[in-house]
Amino acid sequence: MLGLWRRREAAASAAAALWKCRTVYTAKECRAVVLPRFGGPGVLELRSSVPVPDLKPQEVLVRAHAVSINPLDLRVRSGYGRSIFEPLLPLILGRDVSGEVIATGASVSSLSIGQEVFGALHPTAVRGTYADYAILLEDELSVKPSSVSHVEASAVPFAALTAWRALKCTARISKGHRLLVLGGGGAVGLAAIQLAVAVGCSVSTLCGSKSIERVMSVGAEEAIDYRTEDVQSTIRGQFDAVLDTIGMPETERIGVNILKKGGHYMTLQGEAASFADKYGLAFGLPAATAILLKKKLQYKYSHGIEYSWTYMRADAEGLDEIGRLLEAGKMKIPVEKTFPIAEVRQAHEAKEKRLIHGKVVLELY
Ligand SMILES: NC(=O)c1ccc[n+]([C@@H]2O[C@H](COP(=O)([O-])OP(=O)(O)OC[C@H]3O[C@@H](n4cnc5c(N)ncnc54)[C@H](OP(=O)(O)O)[C@@H]3O)[C@@H](O)[C@H]2O)c1
Repeated sequence: MLGLWRRREAAASAAAALWKCRTVYTAKECRAVVLPRFGGPGVLELRSSVPVPDLKPQEVLVRAHAVSINPLDLRVRSGYGRSIFEPLLPLILGRDVSGEVIATGASVSSLSIGQEVFGALHPTAVRGTYADYAILLEDELSVKPSSVSHVEASAVPFAALTAWRALKCTARISKGHRLLVLGGGGAVGLAAIQLAVAVGCSVSTLCGSKSIERVMSVGAEEAIDYRTEDVQSTIRGQFDAVLDTIGMPETERIGVNILKKGGHYMTLQGEAASFADKYGLAFGLPAATAILLKKKLQYKYSHGIEYSWTYMRADAEGLDEIGRLLEAGKMKIPVEKTFPIAEVRQAHEAKEKRLIHGKVVLELY
């Protein structure tokens, strides 16, 4: 409620500022990174005259300044989710964006032309953000704090909303809870640590040696290098929630065994999309659901815990809170390197070959 009020107030002042010089810009075409077929980074094409569709009532046209690269972009490019995306090719990659509102649909009330915004699209959106003009729903955007650059803001929403969904909507963490993040050094892991610290949880994490300083600097109380330390004997006590960003059998074993009764084990590596890709939507999704239900029952019975696959979802309240944490300096995903959009192939290649440890952002200028 407070978030909506803040958005409306910001929209009103931006509208007033624009009153004298308002120009409604209707872009019909723009540059965009198009995926014509699945494959390596070489399949990505920066095209110059990609149509910009007319806005639906709840949509917002954003002039993108920066878009970050998420692992999902690389996976979709190589064919992950083909059961959904293949019939829709060519598509535009990209989930995260930070930029400026250029036009708003008829029923948009909380954002106005000229405002600087950041946000993220749903994982299955077909027209992604790697474009001069991105289209998002009003609820997928929030006002960008002025203290944060577009590059910094674009690194945050998809990862932080993934963490938000798991911690706030599934595990319902609160002050005094103990959280274990398996794979805390990545964007989702760092966001999870910061969201949990902000509500007063204590956080332990497993990560690579290169990430230890980073996870401690954002508030983790304990960081364990999973490549060199004996994890089982190092972590002490029991936890209320485990967020597993890695989702391997070994991390799952650690996670479920360290939880209190009634605790939540949440993995980011749910198998719905991979089953649908393998067996088709009609058989794959029910098969994945059956596996999920079996695991839920199995862990409920054997360990007394709640087991879930967790996915990113747009959440206006979550995004507003993430914006407030950004503004207060309590949420930050460090950006390791930026590339101009024209070098999108090099950027994907660098991420794929793990040449860059951390977030990569594409700039549009
Ligand atoms: N289910 C969903 O809706 C959802 C949403 C978002 C993400 N995900 C998935 O969750 C996982 C994490 O996402 P993310 O955005 O946090 O990914 P990320 O920022 O790329 O981090 C991934 C992990 O890999 C390690 N890492 C990163 N760069 C590396 C490099 N150059 N060399 C070696 N290790 C490197 C990181 O830390 P360490 O070095 O400390 O291990 C981190 O644990 C991905 O598999 C992603 O597909 C799922």
